[in-house]
Amino acid sequence: MSSSKYAEPFRIKVVEMLDFPTTEQRSQALKNVGYNCFMLDAKDIYIDCLTDSGTSAMSNQQWAALMIGDESYVGCKSFTRYEAAVKDIFGFDHVVPTHQGRAADQLCARLLYKGSPEYKYVLTNMAFDSTRAAAVINGLEAVDLLDTPGYDTIHEHPFKGNISLELLENFIQEKGAHSIANVIMTITCNTNGGQPVSMQNIRETAAICRKYGLSYTADAARCFENCYFIKEREEGYQDKDIREIAREMFSHFDYAVMSIKKDGLVNMGGFFCCRDDDLYEKAWINNMNYEGHRTYGGLAGRDLEAIAVGLYEGSEYNYLKGRIGQVQYLGERLDEFKVPYVRPVGGNGVYLDARKFYKDIPPEKFPGLCLAADMYLEYGIRFSELGASAFSYKDENGVIHYPEIDLVRIAISRRVYTNSHMDVIAEALGELYQSGSPNFKGMDKERWDGVTTHFTSHYKPVWR
Ligand code: F0G
Repeated sequence: MSSSKYAEPFRIKVVEMLDFPTTEQRSQALKNVGYNCFMLDAKDIYIDCLTDSGTSAMSNQQWAALMIGDESYVGCKSFTRYEAAVKDIFGFDHVVPTHQGRAADQLCARLLYKGSPEYKYVLTNMAFDSTRAAAVINGLEAVDLLDTPGYDTIHEHPFKGNISLELLENFIQEKGAHSIANVIMTITCNTNGGQPVSMQNIRETAAICRKYGLSYTADAARCFENCYFIKEREEGYQDKDIREIAREMFSHFDYAVMSIKKDGLVNMGGFFCCRDDDLYEKAWINNMNYEGHRTYGGLAGRDLEAIAVGLYEGSEYNYLKGRIGQVQYLGERLDEFKVPYVRPVGGNGVYLDARKFYKDIPPEKFPGLCLAADMYLEYGIRFSELGASAFSYKDENGVIHYPEIDLVRIAISRRVYTNSHMDVIAEALGELYQSGSPNFKGMDKERWDGVTTHFTSHYKPVWR
């Protein structure tokens, strides 16, 4: 079993046939959604790389576990198994289930962000949009303090999700610890390319939080992928098991929120974890009116069972090697065509650098949207824009702020597509990169509220 050639670490028992929308169908569908691929219907898509969230294929073990789901309203047996799995893998004393990650973000915010009238900030390596929303809804600002290599799309740094310890400490000293409600580490860091955070950075950030008495929370959506990168790249972890690394990682945090829809290999689920008994009491009682009783939190008994199995499968080395291996395989295929993407490839997908991909389309004309629209129009493949459309925002003075980088994410669902699909994606991108956009010179805003842009905005294409 020492072959170095990568292959999917599973065989397939159930298949779902793909759709093959025609050129006319794609053209009409794109027009109907204002050239914003985010809003396309699944029936109009051939290969869907919009997200890796809630899109995993469950295993035979997970499907079997669904059948023993206990749907008792309170205290179901399935919760006991879910709770035992979460405590075992993450090492926290308490877990409150939620139906998905953002419900856990909101619960965490309701518990921590009103603690003092002086709170103004939540500090992060880079906030995912639901983390930012949870801060904003509670009257706080989420501040990204990513270390500089994380913004450089070419630099081959092993841990581009790291927070800058210098920026963090400077910020605390300048604004005062009393103004900071929480420090959140997003592992892996989705927004800049699914980039990992090193154990050293997690540990040193914990030390700073202790020094200033700040709460420290993990956004654990893709934590096992992060553990895999630590094992592969950080000195001292090569001989450690993924779960051993996970235990050490979470020992540094006071709290964790997780969208289990990613590394938990399920279609729905989340949690908030803590160690403090009093806070736990507050947490589950608070969550009652939003997500339900502490023994189900928005999930059916069968969901809890699938999670209990999925968390173990998602933290197995051979699974992760195949998972990350597939994403890296796509990166290698793209190299053949010299397609510009964020290096090194991250855990959950390849993130294209749209400004380098379409050099003749300026940022205010949305090169990422053009690339996503071309991919769909020409090949029926859907990506998500994570650039000027998703992240630019209007401040209170009406000034529009654009993100530093314009990315387009090829999110790879777990255990869903084969390497042949990766080949199709790579060859299509190679063709587009060599030809330049066959359709667009840019996009103009048609409907754009500047807040929830990637869900709601419409654009008018400037055709070639
Ligand atoms: N945190 C991170 C880092 C995420 O990537 C997401 C979701 C969430 C929290 C929220 O979790 O969707 O279960 O409510 N990311 C998805 C994505 C939507 O496509 O990247 P959720």
